[in-house]
Amino acid sequence: MIGPLPDGSPFSFDAHSWYRSGITNAMNISMLGSTGSGKSTTACAIALRALAHQGRKVMVVDGKSDWARYADAYGGVAVRFGEPDIALNPLDVPAGLDAASAGEQRMRAVRVLLEIVGERRLTDVELLALSRATAELPADARLTDVRMHIADPVGYSLKAAADLRDAGRTLLPPLDRLTAPRSSFANLLDRPSTVCFNPDTAFFVASLGQLSGPTELRECAFAAVQGWMHTMALGEPADRLLVLDEAWQLLKHESAAVAHAERLRLARAQNLATMMIMHRPGDIAMFGQPGSTHRASVETVFHLSDVHILGHLTADDAAQAQQLLRLNITETQTIRDVCTGEFLWSVETAVSGRRSWLVQTARSEREARLWNTKAG
Ligand SMILES: Nc1ncnc2c1ncn2[C@@H]1O[C@H](COP(=O)(O)OP(=O)(O)OP(=O)(O)O)[C@@H](O)[C@H]1O
Ligand SMILES: [Mg+2]
Repeated sequence: MIGPLPDGSPFSFDAHSWYRSGITNAMNISMLGSTGSGKSTTACAIALRALAHQGRKVMVVDGKSDWARYADAYGGVAVRFGEPDIALNPLDVPAGLDAASAGEQRMRAVRVLLEIVGERRLTDVELLALSRATAELPADARLTDVRMHIADPVGYSLKAAADLRDAGRTLLPPLDRLTAPRSSFANLLDRPSTVCFNPDTAFFVASLGQLSGPTELRECAFAAVQGWMHTMALGEPADRLLVLDEAWQLLKHESAAVAHAERLRLARAQNLATMMIMHRPGDIAMFGQPGSTHRASVETVFHLSDVHILGHLTADDAAQAQQLLRLNITETQTIRDVCTGEFLWSVETAVSGRRSWLVQTARSEREARLWNTKAG
């Protein structure tokens, strides 16, 4: 049970069961609410209830530092990025993945990083050079290897190699930034992973709150970890819930937003439900110009969720949520009035249209102690 409804009756939720029993058409969840409205707490309640279902696994990318504590308390594994020995190789692919899929995953992972540090989309010619460089890398390849293939394509005729070298020339500066020896980027992303994907781990948290360095490093880390989790999960099918807490870091960049939308479309076949936690509906309007690819991808990401969980919002934010989710006046007023831990669940049901419930997330005494983010 997540918590009681206003009449005291219990409200339960499990993304996979709701989807499989035909209540929803999608497994994804979005959550919005002002700072301190209880989003992480409620997301943790959802995750723990999902864990209690046989076979469900939970993976979390936490832009802050709340979930590592939850993982410690509930027998999960928490990786605290920012500690000096932690590295994650974005080129990791599960053993046994076919070469074409491996190349595709690697290309997507490197492309996002290059577009974040280069602050621009890659051109078609650059993409060609990158796809060739990521197509047939060895299992333990790193970003440095991609750089090497782009700077010096091997296995081609002289003319073809010269053309490819030319096409990839402009990729070298962002690649240099990612691979400069002893830089914070290389330390984190251009080493063999110290993090391993263990399919038996039921609760796995990547905590990014302690990561210091330039903003792009945090954004690259968020995108790399999220992409890595998607890719590694490909090799081990299971019912999984992926929680992205502070997901705006991922949507801020067009490339990451586009890649995320693509992954969400594929996620259903992977039995992967994604829960995206953001603050305000206005965050969505912050990214890209209206009508741009960036904005469209952010909106797509949002609309690929059938379950929207809304905590307290200010009057302005509630009005935006009303528009975005077609809430009625009573629902809009409700999200202005709810207190901490109370959420309006607006669900696009598969058969009877949109329905909503007001739910107070329930916590046991132990959970209340553990989930108190003010306790440090
Ligand atoms: N259901 C609840 N009942 C009582 N208190 C709650 C409930 N949910 C959260 N709280 C308290 O509210 C505070 C904020 O909760 P939480 O960190 O989950 O909010 P948040 O929306 O994730 O905040 P932020 O925007 O800063 O990430 C915590 O101290 C927590 O103990
Ligand atoms: Mg939070």
